[in-house]
Amino acid sequence: MRVLGIETSCDETGIAIYDSDCGLLAHTTYSQTEIHSAWGGVVPELASRDHVRKAVPLIEAVLEKAAIQRNEIDGVAYTKGPGLVGALLVGAMLGRTLGFAWGVPTIGVHHLEGHLLAPFLEPNPPVFPFLALLVSGGHTELVKVDGIGKYEIMGDTLDDAAGEAFDKTAKLLGLGYPGGAALAKLAEQGNPARFHFPRPMVDRPGLDFSFSGLKTFALHTVESNRQDYQTRADIARAFEDAVVETLAIKCRRALQETGYQRLVIAGGVGANSSLRRKLHEICRKQEASLFFPRLEFCTDNGAMIAYVGCQRLMMGEQEDLSVEVYPRWPLNKI
Ligand code: KG4
Ligand code: ZN
Repeated sequence: MRVLGIETSCDETGIAIYDSDCGLLAHTTYSQTEIHSAWGGVVPELASRDHVRKAVPLIEAVLEKAAIQRNEIDGVAYTKGPGLVGALLVGAMLGRTLGFAWGVPTIGVHHLEGHLLAPFLEPNPPVFPFLALLVSGGHTELVKVDGIGKYEIMGDTLDDAAGEAFDKTAKLLGLGYPGGAALAKLAEQGNPARFHFPRPMVDRPGLDFSFSGLKTFALHTVESNRQDYQTRADIARAFEDAVVETLAIKCRRALQETGYQRLVIAGGVGANSSLRRKLHEICRKQEASLFFPRLEFCTDNGAMIAYVGCQRLMMGEQEDLSVEVYPRWPLNKI
């Protein structure tokens, strides 16, 4: 089965074609970062309008890249939630319309299920069951994954998501939006011994997270020190170390609690190389294997939506003619 995937939940237009026999045939991601950076965050209406402009030309480009005709597509998948309602509606209307026009089934996909299963786009995917650390701009969750659709959320953030904390701290350091990757780059120049940030909630039992205090701690540290390049780098390093270590401690605890031997990192913060290094170390000590998708499939993309859509369509699921999107949609309510 050959499925066209459309991702428009936030500020990336991701389009891909996944084939159940041959794997990923083609994909492309257009990022709206330039449009939103002037405003210091994603402006929902601008996001929706840009998806409207970009989606159809990108679909045409991906069909051409894959060297296939429209009538060779067997199904259409789009992101149904969670995300920005207007942005989701653009992808949902387009996906549903194409499915109707081409006479093929359509399926709405959960964005986080896309992230969770993105490692299956790679040559050596994990087998079920596994543990997944989902760390993006909007979510920080530890999920027990026992099969497609079998998700148990073991830990969640009580306030800011890890990516959100990265972005807000990056803004404090004058690094623009979204600043996660820029903060990580600056942290490489930082002295790890100069500042020490707390590791929130690690001395309590459980697997939940809280990152808003770290952002406040960063604000006080910025305000009480002279602002030069080295100080900013040292703050970035201390902040990154605190987030990475906190995530790693909870991953180790979850591996121990479940006895699972596979850990998947998914979501945009999964692109952070310090986090990847630390989780490699944890997994080595726990005799567990670590899986993560390539960088472009860690952040939002159409390939993960095409993949999940293909699996679900093959399981016989499909949407009816109504078009619904869910801006808020817990992973365990699929
Ligand atoms: O998964 P994603 O592309 O979009 C959401 O669904 O949220 O994640 C985006 C988030 C942003 O907060 C961004 O700052 C963060 O991932 N991010 C990083 C890095 N690259 C992207 N955070 C830390 N280090 C990075 N290298
Ligand atoms: Zn995402």
